[in-house]
Amino acid sequence: MKPTEVAKNIYEVGAIDWNIRDFHGYSTHEGTTYNAYLIVDEKITLVDTVKKEHADELLENIAQIVDPRKIDYVISNHTEMDHSGGLARVMHRIGEDKPVYCSKAGYKNLSKHFQQKWNYRPVEDGGQLGIGKRTLVFMETRMLHWPDSMFTYGKEDKILFSSDAFGQHYAGLERFDDQIGDAIMPHARKYFANILLLYSPLIVKLVEKVKAAGLAIDMICPDHGIIWRKDPLKIIKAYVEWSEQKPKRKALVVYDTMWHSTEKMAEAIVDALGHEGVDAKPMHLRKWHRSDIMTEVLDAGAVVVGSPTLNNGMFPTVSDFLTYMKGLKPQNKIGASFGSYGWSGEAVKLINGELEGMKFKVIDPGVRVAYVPDKEALQACRELGKNIAKELPH
Ligand code: FEO
Repeated sequence: MKPTEVAKNIYEVGAIDWNIRDFHGYSTHEGTTYNAYLIVDEKITLVDTVKKEHADELLENIAQIVDPRKIDYVISNHTEMDHSGGLARVMHRIGEDKPVYCSKAGYKNLSKHFQQKWNYRPVEDGGQLGIGKRTLVFMETRMLHWPDSMFTYGKEDKILFSSDAFGQHYAGLERFDDQIGDAIMPHARKYFANILLLYSPLIVKLVEKVKAAGLAIDMICPDHGIIWRKDPLKIIKAYVEWSEQKPKRKALVVYDTMWHSTEKMAEAIVDALGHEGVDAKPMHLRKWHRSDIMTEVLDAGAVVVGSPTLNNGMFPTVSDFLTYMKGLKPQNKIGASFGSYGWSGEAVKLINGELEGMKFKVIDPGVRVAYVPDKEALQACRELGKNIAKELPH
């Protein structure tokens, strides 16, 4: 690929991963990119690298601008392997003695990952690095989303190199927000819901910190997806809104089913919710990917979970989903459960326990039905739907 000049003498030199469809359990239906940035100044500086498999592509892209051996500094904003996997290859090519700037936690993590005695230069929050006409400022963003994460801010260009934050898993030839428009927002939203949701309180604080510092931002260059140059404020505002997790009059009925009994119950609950003016939909766990369901959870006021009882437990896909959702710590949700069973019927109680563990407001003991739901059982499901609707905001 031809590198993209994002600002004068600043190039995006990373790689497009068109074919990745599973990013450690997150479905990347449209691939992703690993962005890296080359700043050509008196000291030539590379901000982040790419996944190991794409390291040659990164070096070829850099070579279209400068001989990689001329790179003076490397900045590693984040240790996760999709951004540092190519570091060993890069260091080998540019010279193992070249300084690697990173956060203190980044120093620890990179040392453990690579077991190399590179010329690490751990930086302080607010630390600065002059590279000629430009000054780069480092901002620690611990736990957004790893302990080592940091931003690098180009003072003169007013560019925020934001690592994972404000990214999207999207592979395309478009490189900027103005080239793709609003079509990028569902990708940004999914990325937030599946990677950053649990850090919502930290995001609110970070935005306040940036505002208080009066940091002017003309462009945000994340490590995945498109670059925000037309309207960087748009994605910042969206992050604030998503972090607030205000529940909508929306309910998801997430379920699996063995012989369609739990499915019939799910559909009755959705039907009742719809009659009460709730935006509701059934989401079958073997038809919807967990990460797409999680994207819908972001602004849902209620998550209703259904499972048949299998071997005295809940169905494995339900357990998988609950584990995944629990880790992402969604806030301000109503929860309820339902399910069919043959002889023991533990699933509903187990689901309630999980939902309570996530601090969901469980509004009902749940509907359990032996074998196939009859008219009465389906009515009980409709009542559950109505009760959920009463609790949701208008
Ligand atoms: Fe894109 Fe946390 O790595």
